[in-house]
Amino acid sequence: MLPWRSLRIPAMASAIEVWAVDRLIPYAANARTHSDAQVAKVAASIKEFGFTSPILVDGKDGIIAGHCRLMAARKLGMEQVPVIILDHLSDAQRRAYILADNKLALEAGWDNDILAAELDRLREDGFDLEVIGFSDDELGNLLDGMEEQDEGGSDGGGDEESIPEPPKNPVTRPGDLWVLGEHRLICGDSADSAIVNAVMAGEQADLCFTSPPYGQQRDYTQKIGDWDALMKGVFSVLPVGQTGQILVNLGITYAQNDWNPYWLEWSEWMRSKGWRRFGWYVWDQGSGLPGHWNGRLAPSFEFVFHFNKEARTPNKTVPKKADSIVDREKNTGLRNPDGSICQWSSPEASLQTHKIPDSVIRIGRHNNKGELEKDHPAMFPIALPEFVISAYSDPGEVLFEPFCGSGTSIIAAQRTGRKSRAVELAPEYVDVALLRFQKYFPAVPVVLSGSGKTFAEVAAGRGVVLG
Ligand SMILES: C[S@@+](CC[C@H](N)C(=O)[O-])C[C@H]1O[C@@H](n2cnc3c(N)ncnc32)[C@H](O)[C@@H]1O
Repeated sequence: MLPWRSLRIPAMASAIEVWAVDRLIPYAANARTHSDAQVAKVAASIKEFGFTSPILVDGKDGIIAGHCRLMAARKLGMEQVPVIILDHLSDAQRRAYILADNKLALEAGWDNDILAAELDRLREDGFDLEVIGFSDDELGNLLDGMEEQDEGGSDGGGDEESIPEPPKNPVTRPGDLWVLGEHRLICGDSADSAIVNAVMAGEQADLCFTSPPYGQQRDYTQKIGDWDALMKGVFSVLPVGQTGQILVNLGITYAQNDWNPYWLEWSEWMRSKGWRRFGWYVWDQGSGLPGHWNGRLAPSFEFVFHFNKEARTPNKTVPKKADSIVDREKNTGLRNPDGSICQWSSPEASLQTHKIPDSVIRIGRHNNKGELEKDHPAMFPIALPEFVISAYSDPGEVLFEPFCGSGTSIIAAQRTGRKSRAVELAPEYVDVALLRFQKYFPAVPVVLSGSGKTFAEVAAGRGVVLG
């Protein structure tokens, strides 16, 4: 038989054997070191993924590669491990390969953009990033940029397309009223009753679900001097009637390491205007990002404040588990105090396939896989307005969105058959909302009210070159 070196095909192991851990002999001159922390990480990885990489041994049971894996296996109390026998190496080759196996792996690099995106997707899937082996600091650094995009919400939806960048030279001008099929979007201040009247055209909204700027945290394109003044201004001209529901998404902000209930004055003011603080919900955004967060637990939720004057029964939008849908012919299986069998008090309810949502809204920040939120710093995932809209309005009803941003709630309205009336102050975000809507619904006409011109025609008329 020819020695392996003279063969054209390199040596290849053809079998994996399972050996008792005690049979393996560590290499006395192993130059590679393994800290307890690394062994713990490898053990966690083996626990999560399985023993995916067998230990390499020579013909005399000596370890060539896999010292750390053996230590991790021992730590996990494993009695056996998979091994691959490499008995084709000369003594010098074996000693050289013990170094080469470690050294060659160090030569690989990372594409940090791809790495961060992969980690972010895993995080959104609820995967524990710790077991991948990156330190908190490394994960924090890699994912920091992504978190900046997440603050205040993020976008979601389902289309594997990138969304439009905000234009430097917007087509939209203040006062423009755009008609997007059944929806309307105006560029202006939602605290300005003339703007609100123009977009509502005499209608009242059945529901307002919105995400205002948070406290003084974000200035978007124009500085928010006084948050209370902004909110009071907007909600004093809110076109929502007696039976309407108002749901407002807000996140926590901090000042001097103290959390700041900046919504208090405004919510008291809402009460004084007859909008009682009817409900308080949590938006569970999925697992928190790695990082130190100044010593706090990783943020992973925001609030939704619910105001109304009259309660509206939410729609049953959440599918029930099959085993909780019971046959009306059957009894409950329980007994009354007198021993008789209990019947269902509301048999028709027990047969329903859907129930009302609960007060924790579980929708990941990056519900829209594939969309990058570079066009607006605080997008909702589309599933969030869809969820609220489906619960608190019916098809054909009118929704008011005073802080439209990139138009997520208009997309949700179109998807659910509602009519959106939206206001956005920044012309560039109005452009983004229009372009985004057109990407999702290319068949729905988008025209400037009054002129009937399309976005492209208006751009041409205003001398704006579209990218
Ligand atoms: C938190 S963002 C909304 C993001 C939106 N939910 C989305 O998915 O894109 C708040 C938006 O309100 C806009 N805004 C701030 N003040 C406004 C005002 N007075 N009238 C109308 N829009 C305003 C900002 O320009 C920003 O786009």
